[in-house]
Amino acid sequence: KKILFMASEGVPFIKTGGLADVVGSLPKCIDKEYFDVRVMIPKYSCITEEMKEKMTFKTYFHMDFNWKNEYVGIMEAKEDGVTYYFIDNETMFSGFRPYSDNVLEEVTKFSFFSKAALSALPLIDFRPDVIHCHDWQTGLVPVYLKERFQGSEFFRGIKSVMTIHNLKFQGKWDVKTVKSITGLPDYFFTPDKLEAYKDANLLKGGIVYADAITTVSDTYAEEIKTPFYGEGMDGLLRAKEKDLRGIVNGIDYDDFNPETDKYIEHNYNAVNFRKEKIKNKRALQAELGLEQDDKKMLIGIVSRLTDQKGFDLISYMMEEMCQDAVQIVILGTGEEQYENMFRHFDWKYNNKVSANIFYSEALSHKIYAACDAFLMPSLFEPCGLSQLMALRYGTVPIVRETGGLKDTVEPYNEYESEGTGFSFSNYNAHEMLATIRYAERIYYDRKREWNKIIDRGMAADFSWHVSAKKYQEMYDWLIG
Ligand code: ADP
Ligand code: GLC
Repeated sequence: KKILFMASEGVPFIKTGGLADVVGSLPKCIDKEYFDVRVMIPKYSCITEEMKEKMTFKTYFHMDFNWKNEYVGIMEAKEDGVTYYFIDNETMFSGFRPYSDNVLEEVTKFSFFSKAALSALPLIDFRPDVIHCHDWQTGLVPVYLKERFQGSEFFRGIKSVMTIHNLKFQGKWDVKTVKSITGLPDYFFTPDKLEAYKDANLLKGGIVYADAITTVSDTYAEEIKTPFYGEGMDGLLRAKEKDLRGIVNGIDYDDFNPETDKYIEHNYNAVNFRKEKIKNKRALQAELGLEQDDKKMLIGIVSRLTDQKGFDLISYMMEEMCQDAVQIVILGTGEEQYENMFRHFDWKYNNKVSANIFYSEALSHKIYAACDAFLMPSLFEPCGLSQLMALRYGTVPIVRETGGLKDTVEPYNEYESEGTGFSFSNYNAHEMLATIRYAERIYYDRKREWNKIIDRGMAADFSWHVSAKKYQEMYDWLIG
């Protein structure tokens, strides 16, 4: 059975967030005896030379798109046993980053990708039984598929899955323009199809036309059927309830393994972390110019700096947090107000706070390994992978109970001696601070309890193991 992932990013070629981790790790974990899973992503010019060198040219064709006749190259690479295809068009996928802030440019680029990716299929000798689409960037794939398979033998019977990694981003622009860009007939632009609140909405197209819809945790699957989390799509998702299910993400247990991780100075495991993990803390304190103190509780943040991740709560409480006996290390980029807020506290509390406003895979691993606690008070969180990485590295997550955070972090219960992290339920800065301070008390006053929390966290299994089976069941069911 043949499965093709279509997505806008994938590790190790290009990554801006968790979507790339999922696209890069899930295919490896699908049972190779029954499934041939391949991946198709754009060939951005900002992909590193090292990665580009792994690609070989396969073929090319020309395609009508947005009133022009466009070149479409197809490149191929093999990575960890998985075949990747890359859709190449230099003007479409130029720039220093895979995404830009220009919405029309984005809608155009990914409409192009969706159409080109499908059009490439007859040329690559791989006819998938299921196309697995990810997020709004590939929302048009199920739509084009429906339009084409009516006429073409090749496409007839190909099934599609739409996975929502983040409902906030939908890819919308005015109907007239999208009609002309995509070349789709009027028929598709009605409120029961692509139109939503007078705009054309690419993600909605995917939700309406896909044969199955999934999202990345059970709780998020429920939340998005409510107006607060539904981003205007809750009505549609309620109506589509029967086709929608949550499958929680896993992480790559080879890439994220404290025992073998090449980015960290001192490897450790669930048995020897009590002695070894602290060495990574010393190394990070030295590297980042924090006060050298084994005992100080070190709190880490690795994140896109956006509202989604709860940074307005952190901004509000940062001054107070800095009065406590803690050190805080941040790695992230994003909204300027948050970047500057962290720079300010780094300046003001130089040996207590370290703000690293850039992207670094290496530093992220060092932070997961070195910290005592990991803070992630998200406003909403479809799944969240960072807290899973923290758990794997024996770093205790402090989270808000929403989406995947609720499904993967079991709240500490001091009476039952249960739980893998600390959590609070309301999106409220004081609740967050109280929870952080509760964690501080356990860390400082009851170290053995703290270490047992780490034991349970490191013992929890968030590899793809279970979830990959759920995807396989879904593919089987779709193929029939
Ligand atoms: P999201 O996809 O919403 O950003 P996730 O928790 O699912 O959140 O995934 C985020 C991924 O991106 C994790 O692998 C995290 O380590 C990584 N990440 C985020 N910001 C940075 C950064 N500045 N440098 C390195 N890795 C980062
Ligand atoms: C999105 C979500 C995040 C999720 C990731 C991978 O970026 O914000 O919660 O973990 O996709 O599914």
